[in-house]
Amino acid sequence: MINFAPPRIDEKIIEAVSETLRSGWITTGPKTKLLEKKLSEYCGVTQALCLNSATAGLELALRWYGVGPGDEVIVPAYTYAATANVVIHCGAIPVLADVNKDDLCISAEAIEKAITTKTKVIMPVDFGGLPCNYDLIYAIAEKAKKDFQAANEQQKKLGRILILSDAAHSLGATYKGRNAGKLADISVFSFHAVKNLTTAEGGAMVFNLPAPFDNALIYKQLSITSLHGQTKDAMAKMQKGNWKYDIVEAGYKCNMTDLAATMGLIELERYTSDTLPKRKAIIDAYYNFFSVYSWAELPVLKDEERESSYHLFPLRIKDITEEQRDKIIQKIFDRDVAVNVHFIPLPMMSFYKNMGYEMNDYPVTYNNFSREISLPVYYDLSMEEIAIVTKAVRESVMEVL
Ligand SMILES: Cc1ncc(COP(=O)(O)O)c(C=O)c1O
Repeated sequence: MINFAPPRIDEKIIEAVSETLRSGWITTGPKTKLLEKKLSEYCGVTQALCLNSATAGLELALRWYGVGPGDEVIVPAYTYAATANVVIHCGAIPVLADVNKDDLCISAEAIEKAITTKTKVIMPVDFGGLPCNYDLIYAIAEKAKKDFQAANEQQKKLGRILILSDAAHSLGATYKGRNAGKLADISVFSFHAVKNLTTAEGGAMVFNLPAPFDNALIYKQLSITSLHGQTKDAMAKMQKGNWKYDIVEAGYKCNMTDLAATMGLIELERYTSDTLPKRKAIIDAYYNFFSVYSWAELPVLKDEERESSYHLFPLRIKDITEEQRDKIIQKIFDRDVAVNVHFIPLPMMSFYKNMGYEMNDYPVTYNNFSREISLPVYYDLSMEEIAIVTKAVRESVMEVL
C-alpha cells in the first residue's frame, strides 16, 4: 500500500528526540525557544510563537483581536473545519466565501460581498501551500476601513479588518518575493503529522503587525496566554529562587513541548535544502505525467507572483460528478494507493449544515471539491512509487469516464 503522507521519521529525528528525552527537560524550554528563533528568521519576521497546533494559534489570534459575539469573520467555504471552528469557539459568526476556480484560494470578489460593519477578521487559507493574493485582500480591507467599527484597543490601533492567514499548508511558499509568514498581519502554520514540516502535532503563530504594534510584546503576552496566563513558564519557575509566579488571566494550555520542538528543529534545518526540493520534484513528476491528458485539470503551483510550498497535489478531473469522483477514488484504493480529498466543504459538514449554511451558495467550491483527488506527496515517495500512483490514477479514471 502506498500511503498518503507518512511523516519522515529517520535516525536523525529519533536520535535528536532521544537526546531531548535523556536531557531531563521535555516540555516548553530551550528547544521550543530555539525553534521560535529559527522560524522567525526563516520567515523574515521578528517573532514566532510555537504552540501545540495551528488551531490554537488561529484561536489565540482571534481572541487577541477581541473577536467575540456579534462579530463576523470571513473564511473560505473550501477549507478544513479548524478555520471556522475557532470562530465558533470565540462566539463569533464565520461568514463563508466562495473560492477562485483556478487556484482554490478565497475569492476577492466574494470577500468584498461578504464584508459588513461587523467584519473583524478575514482569514485567507493558502490552499495546498499556494499563497492567496494578499495585496488584493489588503486593498479590500483598506477600502472597508471607513466602515470599520473598532470595539477595543487593538482594533482601534489597527483601524481596519485584521488579515489572519491560515498558513497551515504554506511554510516556505512565497508571494512577490516575500515568505509566507510575512504576507498577513498574523500567519499561523501547522506542524501536524501530515504537514511539510512536522512536530507530530504543533503549530506556530508568526507576527507581522504594522507599527505602532510591538510584535515582541504581543509575542510575550500570547506566550503567557498559551500557558494559563502564568507569568513564568515551567523552565523559568525551575530556576533557583524563582518559584513564585502569578496568574494574570484565565489563559489556555496550548504550549509546544521541547520534544515536539526537537523534531521541528531538525525538520527546519533541512527544509529549504532537502524537503522542499524533494516535494517539488514529486509534484513536478505528477504535473508532467498528467499534463498530457485532456481529462486532467492541474493545480496552480507557481505563477509570476507566487510559488507554492508544494504541500498538496490537488488533481481535478474535468467534467465529472461527485459520484464519479468517489468511484475513481475507490478504484485507486483498490490498487493499493491512498488518496485524499481536500476538502469536504464546510457547508457539507453536519454542524455547519445544521447552522444553515448551504452548499448551493458556494458553487465554485462545490464544483472543485466534487472533482478533486489529492495524490500522495511525502519525502520518502520514490519515483517507482510515483509511477504506481500515476498508473493507478490513470487506469481508475479510464474505467469511470
Ligand atoms: C487549512 C487548515 N487549517 C488549519 C488546520 C489545523 O491545523 P492543526 O491540526 O495544526 O491544528 C489544518 C490542518 O489540517 C488545515 O488543513
